Amino acid sequence: MPDIPSDKAVLVTCGLPYANGKAHVGHLRTYIPADVYVRSLKKNSQEATFVCGSDTHGTPIVVNAEALGVSPKELVQKYHAHFDEVFRKMEVEFDAFGTTDDEVNHRRTLDIVDRLIGKGYVYPKVIEIAYCPQCDRFLPDRYVEGTCPHCGERARGDECDQGCGKHLEPGELRDPVCTICKGPAEYKQQEHFFFRLSEFSDFLLGYLEQLGGTLNARNYALGWVKQELSDWCITRNLEWGVRFPGHDDLVVYVWVDAPIGYIAFTEEWAQASGGDWEMFWKGDCPIVHFIGGDIIYHHCIFWPAMLKGADYSQPSAVVASGMLKIEDRTFSKSRGYVVWVEEDYLDHGFHPDLLRYYLVSYTSHTKEVNFSWKIFQDKINTELVGVLGNFLYRNLLFAFKNFGEIPGGDIDPGIMEKINSTIGEVVRANADYEFKKAADTAMALASYGNSYFQSNEPWKLIKEDKEACGRVIKNCLQLSRALVLLFEPITPGSMEKAWKQIGMDSDVHTATYEEATVPVVSGIKLEKPEILFTKLEDDKIEEMEKISSKRIKAAIAKEAGIKEVPKMEFKPEIEYDDFAKLDIRVGRVVTAERIKKSKKLLRLEVDIGDDSPRQVVAGLAEYYKPEEMVGKTVNVLVNLKPVKLCGVESQGMLLAADAGEQVSLLTTDEKISPGSCVR
Ligand code: MF3
Ligand code: ZN
Repeated sequence: MPDIPSDKAVLVTCGLPYANGKAHVGHLRTYIPADVYVRSLKKNSQEATFVCGSDTHGTPIVVNAEALGVSPKELVQKYHAHFDEVFRKMEVEFDAFGTTDDEVNHRRTLDIVDRLIGKGYVYPKVIEIAYCPQCDRFLPDRYVEGTCPHCGERARGDECDQGCGKHLEPGELRDPVCTICKGPAEYKQQEHFFFRLSEFSDFLLGYLEQLGGTLNARNYALGWVKQELSDWCITRNLEWGVRFPGHDDLVVYVWVDAPIGYIAFTEEWAQASGGDWEMFWKGDCPIVHFIGGDIIYHHCIFWPAMLKGADYSQPSAVVASGMLKIEDRTFSKSRGYVVWVEEDYLDHGFHPDLLRYYLVSYTSHTKEVNFSWKIFQDKINTELVGVLGNFLYRNLLFAFKNFGEIPGGDIDPGIMEKINSTIGEVVRANADYEFKKAADTAMALASYGNSYFQSNEPWKLIKEDKEACGRVIKNCLQLSRALVLLFEPITPGSMEKAWKQIGMDSDVHTATYEEATVPVVSGIKLEKPEILFTKLEDDKIEEMEKISSKRIKAAIAKEAGIKEVPKMEFKPEIEYDDFAKLDIRVGRVVTAERIKKSKKLLRLEVDIGDDSPRQVVAGLAEYYKPEEMVGKTVNVLVNLKPVKLCGVESQGMLLAADAGEQVSLLTTDEKISPGSCVR
């Protein structure tokens, strides 16, 4: 049974991006399938409204704004505009895209909080809150770091992001440290407000049993509800956010006002379009939430309980996408594992449709995706270019050249049947949130078209029987029409062009699947078709891979505390004889001391297997202490002409790797006698 009855209007939402940084391909892993889903519903003649907006509150935003020296408002306005623009460019078409700082959301949040208070679901309690004596402030959420009480990993104040993934309540974190001054924090008592989540256990059990969407969401949430739910602290000591009624020093926790944004944005859509927001939030029209797999807890537990408590309708389905990884690491903008939508994709001239196709068709929606430029290239070249583009182009070009218009004749019933059954399968796959299956099914129709064209050999037929050839081409044009409609949700920009090419002057975005089986009309003039998808060249993909791997390497090095190496020109080629002139020996440092007049130099005596040790002056004082040097096995160039450095003669040179800010001495893999030759 599909989750969503086909005769009702549907509200579809996407998890709200934090207006705190740029859009990356990880975001699109949720937004693009959601957009494809909405477009497919509309193609199937279902009324659908699609809303989203920026998540503008919460401590990360305040922390970030503080670090940048701007107000939180300035920060979120900048990124709100950025997301709005990226969504437009990627053809993700929301009916409303607001912000959680909008007046409407402040009002809706207050309404809900007041109702919860009125019904006794909110109570005050004195709790221990992390407080920094140095900075003289309370430390909500990301202002504090410490040890997770559940798994012992390093965690943030509200979430064990690197370990077990649990939501943490204020006061739970062990060994709290202030993230502003890095000093130790203490726990102080303060009154906060709690939502009686524990009273909703039974409700949630029943609710989750019937919740639609993807099973990963439902099962994860059920696992939690079957354990004991604890009440939820819904206030924070912050200035920025939605004020908690009656308490000027408190705002509501960001996870209260953020999902309420879904309602506020529906109201904004209704205001602008004359629509009805209450049919979803107070009535029984279905609501479908698309979210990333990391925020299931909030959407399947907190949110429905809050809605239930405040007498609002609850979502019908939660669709959770698998995470996007890059080189097997989870995307993380703060750590630098990231592919930016603008600078790493759009700005390189790639069409949005290609990424849309890749993200939807690569793997099933709940699986994780390891982003790969190679696979991206391969899917575009073999499928979009080689199958769909090829079919549309070859038959349109043939029709244009040989007929100049849509030829006459009847459509083969077998072709109509094939189109009908494909549409049926695509609709079912979408209803099951199986977007890859839907894309593959549509692509299979293009493949079928190619075989049909190939096996009928219209290039021969045209010489023998022009009318019969016309019928073949007309069938191909019928298939093309169906394909354009089937691919419009995935590749809307390209299909808009293709729609014109097949002689249609209506709007392909509002056209429905029903039009796929309306027979194409003979006699409509055809223009010379343009190629819709072109092959991605190896050079281009290699260039993109280099950009990604450079960024990842830098991120890994940063995590490991290794500095990035400044780029150095490679030296010209030499002969072996040039190299053989160098006499490099293994040495052992016998003594080491600083040279008084210099910050950089050490004076060393090095045993190089000769009768007496050599005196070597090395520029290592900034990287090694003299006492660290003694006993080290080193490599010494021993036949370099002696020079005086700061008045001390150097009779050789120690070899070291130089990475600009970092210098590391070359030593030997195993202990080996001084005097051994290095070649
Ligand atoms: N901004 C949150 C995130 O990126 C998602 C908020 S979704 C909502 O994790 F439900 F709270 F709106
Ligand atoms: Zn943990």
